[in-house]
Amino acid sequence: MENTNREKFGSKIGVVAAAAGSAVGLGNIYRFPIVAGNNGGGAFLLIYLLILLLLGVSLIVAEFIIGRRAAKNAVGSFKKLAPKTAWPAVGFAGVVTAFTIITFYSTVSGWTLDYICRSVFDNIRGDNLETMNANFNALINSSWRPYLCQALFIIMTAVIIILGVQKGIEKGSKIMMPILLVILLILLVRSLTLNGAGEGLAFFLKPDFSKINVDVIISALGQVFFSLSIGMGTMITYGSYISKKDNLVSSAVSICICDTMVAFIAGMIIFPAAMAFGITPTAGPGLVFNTLPMLFGQMHGGYFFCLIFFVLLAIASITSLISLFEVVVAYLVEEHSFRRRNATLLTLIVSIVFGIFVTMSLNEHSTLKICGETLFDCLDMITANYLMIISGMLVVLFVGWKMKKADTIDELSSGGTIRSLFNDLVYFVIKYVAPIAIIIIFVKKILD
Ligand code: PFF
Repeated sequence: MENTNREKFGSKIGVVAAAAGSAVGLGNIYRFPIVAGNNGGGAFLLIYLLILLLLGVSLIVAEFIIGRRAAKNAVGSFKKLAPKTAWPAVGFAGVVTAFTIITFYSTVSGWTLDYICRSVFDNIRGDNLETMNANFNALINSSWRPYLCQALFIIMTAVIIILGVQKGIEKGSKIMMPILLVILLILLVRSLTLNGAGEGLAFFLKPDFSKINVDVIISALGQVFFSLSIGMGTMITYGSYISKKDNLVSSAVSICICDTMVAFIAGMIIFPAAMAFGITPTAGPGLVFNTLPMLFGQMHGGYFFCLIFFVLLAIASITSLISLFEVVVAYLVEEHSFRRRNATLLTLIVSIVFGIFVTMSLNEHSTLKICGETLFDCLDMITANYLMIISGMLVVLFVGWKMKKADTIDELSSGGTIRSLFNDLVYFVIKYVAPIAIIIIFVKKILD
């Protein structure tokens, strides 16, 4: 089957907006502060930025190269570029990882829906930490709210998917992302001007080198992968929608900049405010879901900002969930001849069923635990810290060592039209630096 009538993103800004929409999400505003808080704050930030600088752009470009070259889904791309080999298994692992992420990502997305409803009635803002904790615990222990919100969220995502790539993803992302950034900047000013903000700022910005160990490095690596949506086929699938003329490297640079800016600002908002309110940096989900309502409680126009913030957070998570769905749906459509609508419905039903178990595992009476950790935390850790990293490494090995060099260079230079030293650097990182760095980190972990 040839791909001549496959959908393409309409413009360069469309690609960047949609891929940035995938990258920017709960991973930046919810997960990043939690992982940073649990891994020493400043020390984590330093390692995170180093890994991002060294590998971020190249990892995105490697996935774009595969997707655009083959113009297929994550599995089909490997099948087309390396027929009759085991490589398509890497794409398939990506599809499984994407599905797994949907099941726990939608839990937190559902919480944003609950917070939106409660923001409308203005009953989440406040200044008492115990009330905030009680509110959050009431949500995760409720017998219906988190499940209903999760299911609704998945259904909303599926509806957008059925509307199609161009209409749904591109238009929405172009408008919403800049608004989210503006709200974050307003929150930043309020957080930094709180009494006692300095301690949190120091926690986030001053690295304590004694905190750096191999687990911190793996968590940072996992967070880079999670945040940039790499290592599970998203950027391969989106790459397949990029037009032949677009510059892959500059698109990847823009995505990295947007993504890092949002995560960094989120950290700069959360830690100063949390510490000013007496919330510890290791508070997990409460770090975000308790700190922000307290921050809104201290703002002029807090009602308004609170509502818009949670609406935008929900939208940021929809654009990320869409990209996760897109990996599974494109696979079912192209490899198993599903109609797009049926593939979406199937993904929707199965992810709601599995997602409910994941959400249930957070209930205080739940027995859904593995080695003492909730199913939610286990899936989060296994996907980000292992599956995505391993499959990201296989992707760079594929592009650097298996694909024909001429093909890779052709993609990097968009058919010879873009020549820059930067392309050579990216190729070098894909071929040597990224695989070696990832192998060293894992070997260190095994030997530790
Ligand atoms: N990058 C998204 C975030 O930071 O919220 C999460 C995500 C989306 C991870 C898509 C992986 C993915 F393929």
